[in-house]
Parts: sequence; structure tokens; C-alpha cells
Amino acid sequence: MVGTVKTSSSKTTNMKKEEVSLIAALQEYDNAIGYDNDLLFRIPEDLARFKAKTKNNIVIMGRKTMESISKMPLPERDNIMITRNKNFKAPEGVITVHGFEEALEKALELAYNTDKEILVMGGAEVYAIAMQYATKFYKTTVVSNKKANVFFPYYEGMFPKILEHKNHECPKTGLSYTFSTLAA
Ligand SMILES: NC(=O)c1ccc[n+]([C@@H]2O[C@H](COP(=O)([O-])OP(=O)(O)OC[C@H]3O[C@@H](n4cnc5c(N)ncnc54)[C@H](OP(=O)(O)O)[C@@H]3O)[C@@H](O)[C@H]2O)c1
Repeated sequence: MVGTVKTSSSKTTNMKKEEVSLIAALQEYDNAIGYDNDLLFRIPEDLARFKAKTKNNIVIMGRKTMESISKMPLPERDNIMITRNKNFKAPEGVITVHGFEEALEKALELAYNTDKEILVMGGAEVYAIAMQYATKFYKTTVVSNKKANVFFPYYEGMFPKILEHKNHECPKTGLSYTFSTLAA
């Protein structure tokens, strides 16, 4: 499927919807993903999966997620960060853009003639915009009951195909979690 992205610079970029994936870890019962600008879970196996999926690829994130994970770009990845603040001083090595479509345009330039995947890594505000472009969702579902104030947007019916679904238990935290890969 081919979609059309109108960029902020009013150029038009043809892109395959398949080129954009979401990656997120959700609390199973309420789809929570964060609390007070921090992650809910730090499951070593999930962090390893995140690294494996994103390494040598292109990640797009919101300014709050950038600040919540580190003040540095994630190594061995192209880091694109979205902010509305034209004066925002991003850490060196982070590509700053001012809208999601501009982020996609930049990501497509970086991906051109490579096999790099474009992954949207949050947070909730950015997932909500990215949803319309995404056809793959690398989802981790965690059985827990943590207090949260940031939630993954509604995605019911958007990724009906199940490409992967495996249940696990984290020896370190004792948490049960599922790795799944869903497709549109
Ligand atoms: N569980 C997970 O997998 C996961 C993954 C990622 C993040 N998280 C959690 O999610 C939370 C952060 O999510 P969030 O929704 O609060 O924030 P976010 O999506 O990370 O960032 C929001 C910020 O991004 C910028 N932005 C968003 N849409 C934009 C647009 N269309 N144009 C220009 N700029 C735009 C704005 O930055 P400015 O305010 O600078 O303009 C906005 O305030 C944290 O708790 C984090 O730990 C969880």
C-alpha cells in the first residue's frame, strides 16, 4: 500500500505504509506506557528486544520521550526527535524536526537505498499521529498494575495479523510479559 505524505515544506513524498513500525511496551489491563515522564517497566529482555529491533535503524520520538530515556541519542541508530519548540537545543547527534510529517520525510531520506527500518518509539502523543502510517507493531504486553498517567492510543482492529506471539516471565522482576508482532 502506498500513501502520500504532505510534508511541512509542502513537498509531497510517496511512501509505503509498510515502512513505518511502532514499538512499545504496554501494561496489559489499561494500555499504560508511562508515569510522570518515565517508563513503567525496565525488563531486561524487553530492553534487549527494543535494542535488537531498532539497532542500525531509524527511530522517531517525541521530545518528552527523548528526555525520559536519556539526554543522548541512542547509539547505532538514527535518532529523529519532534518538538514544536523551534529554539529547542537537542543533544548532539539528534535530528530535530517540528512535525511528524517532517520526521517521516527525514526518515525516508535516511532510509533511501538502505534496508533501514523506520520505527516510531513513542510517546503517546507521537504514537497517536504515527498510527495512520504504521502497518507493523512490535508490542510488549506486561501483566502488572502500576500507577500510570500516559496511555497508548486506541488501536483496536488496526493490526489484525499476528506474526509473533510468545509469553515469557522475567527472572529478574518476576513479571509475565508477551512479545508480539502485529501487522495491519
Ligand atoms: N512504554 C513504552 O514503550 C514507552 C515508549 C516511549 C515513551 N514512553 C513514555 O511515554 C511518556 C511520554 O509520552 P508523551 O505522550 O507524554 O510525550 P511524547 O510523545 O514523547 O512527546 C510529546 C512532545 O513531542 C512533541 N510533539 C508531539 N507531537 C508533535 C507534533 N505533531 N509536532 C511537533 N512536535 C510534536 C512536543 O514537544 P514540545 O513540547 O517540545 O513541543 C510534545 O510535547 C513517558 O512517560 C515515557 O516514559 C513509554
